[in-house]
Amino acid sequence: MRPFEPSTRLLWVFALGSVISTYILILIGGYVTTSDSGLGCGESWPLCSGAVLPALNNSAQIIEFSHRIFNFVVAFFIIGTAILVWTRYRREKNLVLFTTASFVGLFVQVFLGMVTVTSALNPIVGDAHLGLASAILAFLVVNVMLVRDVRPIPVALPR
Ligand code: HEM
Repeated sequence: MRPFEPSTRLLWVFALGSVISTYILILIGGYVTTSDSGLGCGESWPLCSGAVLPALNNSAQIIEFSHRIFNFVVAFFIIGTAILVWTRYRREKNLVLFTTASFVGLFVQVFLGMVTVTSALNPIVGDAHLGLASAILAFLVVNVMLVRDVRPIPVALPR
C-alpha cells in the first residue's frame, strides 16, 4: 500500500468524509424508519411542517429533520469530492466514473427522499431509497480505495 502523497491529501479527506458522513446518514435514515418518524415533518418538502426551521417540539419531527439537515454534510463532502476530481484528477478514469456515479446518486436520492415524504411513505419508493443509499455507499467506498493509487498532481517548478 502506498502512503498518501501530500498533494492527494485533500482528495483523501473529502473521499473519506463522504463515506463516513453517508454511513452516519444511513444510520439516521434507519432510525427514521424504525422509530416511525418518516412523516415527522408532515408531507412537507423541502420545508419541514411548512417551516425552514420547525418548532422541533416532538421527537418524530426532530428525528426526520436531523435526517434532512445531515444531508447537507453529505452533500458538502460528495460535491467537494466531485469538484476536486473533475478539476484536478480528470485523467483518473475510474475515479471520475465512481465520483460521478455517487454525485448523480446523491441528487436522485434527494429526489427519492422528497417522493418518500410527499407520497406519504409509499413502500416501493422507500425501498428504492434504501437500495440507492446502499449503492451510493458502495461507490464511495470504491472511491476511497481508488484514491490510494492516484498519482500526485505534477508540480510546475519555476524556471
Ligand atoms: C444521500 C442522501 C440520503 C441517504 C443516504 C438516505 C438514506 C436513508 C435510509 C438508509 C433510510 C432508511 C430506509 C429503510 O430502512 O427502509 C432513509 C429513510 C428516510 N429518508 Fe433518507 N436518505 C437520504 C436523503 C433523504 C432526503 C433528502 C430526504 C428528504 C426528505 C429523505 C427522507 C427520508 C424519509 C422520510 C425516510 C423514512 C422512510 C420511512 O419511514 O418509510 N432522505 N433514508
